[in-house]
Amino acid sequence: MGIENIRKTSTFESFVPPNEDTMLLVAGLEQLANDLTINIKNNGGFDHSRLINLYGKPGTGKSHLLEAFVSQIISKGGYEMTEKILFLNDKDVGTWRYGLYNERRVKIVTVDDLFANNKSVNEISSFDLKGFMDCIYRGYETKQFIFVTSNFSLSGITEIIAKQDGPGRITSRLKEMTLSSIKLDGPDYREIIAAKRIDKGPFAF
Ligand SMILES: Nc1ncnc2c1ncn2[C@@H]1O[C@H](COP(=O)(O)OP(=O)(O)OP(=O)(O)O)[C@@H](O)[C@H]1O
Ligand SMILES: [Mg+2]
Repeated sequence: MGIENIRKTSTFESFVPPNEDTMLLVAGLEQLANDLTINIKNNGGFDHSRLINLYGKPGTGKSHLLEAFVSQIISKGGYEMTEKILFLNDKDVGTWRYGLYNERRVKIVTVDDLFANNKSVNEISSFDLKGFMDCIYRGYETKQFIFVTSNFSLSGITEIIAKQDGPGRITSRLKEMTLSSIKLDGPDYREIIAAKRIDKGPFAF
């Protein structure tokens, strides 16, 4: 998974907010993307590590907004931003890919669909959990901005981490880092896309 996998159609403009809260969320994310870009451009990075989390049911647009966020940073900051951002999905966290690419040049780490293959937070394997805990620890130490999307809320994930966290070093860092954990409400947009496709006939690609 990398930046090249970002869907070109996933932009802030193409996102149809299902309610007013989500409209404000989209505006906030766009502003945040611009602020982070300016910080990287002017100061080379950030003074501290921060984390945001978007969670909610399948098809509500979490990945769409994450992709829009990354695309916005690249379009504002230019091509040089591509090496400052690590765009990961669930399977990459905790594997060798994370270790290899997570150098100091990386200022923003995004994790799409974290723990996607688990029915509940209680089913998360200790290997997967360890991967994310590592991601937090390193992110904190290297002052990264971390953006996570998941079907699970950050508080649910934090509870599970706390159980495996020895003296609580990760939990403590996570508290300082967490800027927001926002629930994305709305319809399963995949159903809307499917309905529109039917309107266009059986062979419209
Ligand atoms: N509000 C929206 N406006 C326009 N398109 C949307 C909206 N929400 C979702 N989509 C589109 O619907 C599809 C599914 O969205 P997306 O992949 O972001 O869902 P998700 O919340 O990440 O789901 P999952 O939990 O299964 O990963 C994508 O094609 C996306 O572009
Ligand atoms: Mg997704």
